Amino acid sequence: MSADDAMPYWHPELETRHADLIERLAPLVPCLELTLHLPWIDAIERLKRERGAVIMAHSYQSPEIFHGVADVTGDSLALAQAAATCDAELIVLCGVHFMAETAKILAPGRTVLIPDLEAGCSLASSITADDVRALRERHPGAPVVTYVNTSAAVKAESDACCTSANAVQVVRAMGAEKVIFLPDNFLGAHVAAQVDVELVLWNGRCEVHEQFTVQQARHARERFDAALVAHPECPPDVQAEADFVGSTTAMGRWLEKARPRRVALITECSMADNLRARFPDVEFIKPCNLCPHMKRITLPNIHACLKELRHEVTVPADVSARARRALERMLDAGRLEHV
Ligand code: 13P
Ligand code: SF4
Repeated sequence: MSADDAMPYWHPELETRHADLIERLAPLVPCLELTLHLPWIDAIERLKRERGAVIMAHSYQSPEIFHGVADVTGDSLALAQAAATCDAELIVLCGVHFMAETAKILAPGRTVLIPDLEAGCSLASSITADDVRALRERHPGAPVVTYVNTSAAVKAESDACCTSANAVQVVRAMGAEKVIFLPDNFLGAHVAAQVDVELVLWNGRCEVHEQFTVQQARHARERFDAALVAHPECPPDVQAEADFVGSTTAMGRWLEKARPRRVALITECSMADNLRARFPDVEFIKPCNLCPHMKRITLPNIHACLKELRHEVTVPADVSARARRALERMLDAGRLEHV
């Protein structure tokens, strides 16, 4: 029997032990599901303490993970920042593989585990280190800015990394007339519209955000009278329809200021669940697209990960050293963005 199958059971004490969590999760998770999740959450909390581990979860993780077991939550930039300053010996990264690699590069002395090694990303798999080298040959002298949604090998070929939260700042900080911006074509077009720099783009797409259509966006506005907020990985016509386009963190900031009665979040489905807890007065409409990679992470495989100390993410030392330089420039721009 694998650790996944060793299912912890419900017992009434869990209700008292986790009363606060039950209150937080009740509006987000159906009642019956909650009774299935709580035994896992309880067992994970225990193992986490025994191991001295920190669980970091991306905003696209399901609510029972995001609210139930995570110590650190946020977008790609926030998780990278947290990894860079983490004191714990063991980091469990509940997100996709490039996020775990990023954590390992920024915290080389820590053990970084991911609950499912197959949790990939269509953007990360759209480009290789050879592709980056070929682009450099075609555009001599142009610096390479790479979205953090890439492999460590691609980061190692780059001058700087960025996330959707600081892409514009990082491109401007290059101080060049022409920048190679990889691999997300739609994010690239979004950045190009805001900078006075020629951008050479790649044809990578997020398989989740590229599915949203302008018809869906209009339907949300007309049928539900909802404000529209879109992620810059969405197609340009969807972005053009939105009241606000921004990264995962920027969406939260916009909601804080605008406080719409109703909002359609044109992004991964769990974002709405996770933001709903922060904005109980806002009604969230979910044009629901789930990221199949993010959803590979579950409470049972987090439990197995902590119990069996699997799956460790490693990065070869030479790749790590070069990728780290690019990531540090991203963190510098992140610091600027948050002042
Ligand atoms: P951010 O976390 O940078 O907003 O990116 C969204 C995303 O698609 C992560 O995979
Ligand atoms: Fe990659 Fe898109 Fe999934 Fe993010 S949501 S991990 S960009 S496929």
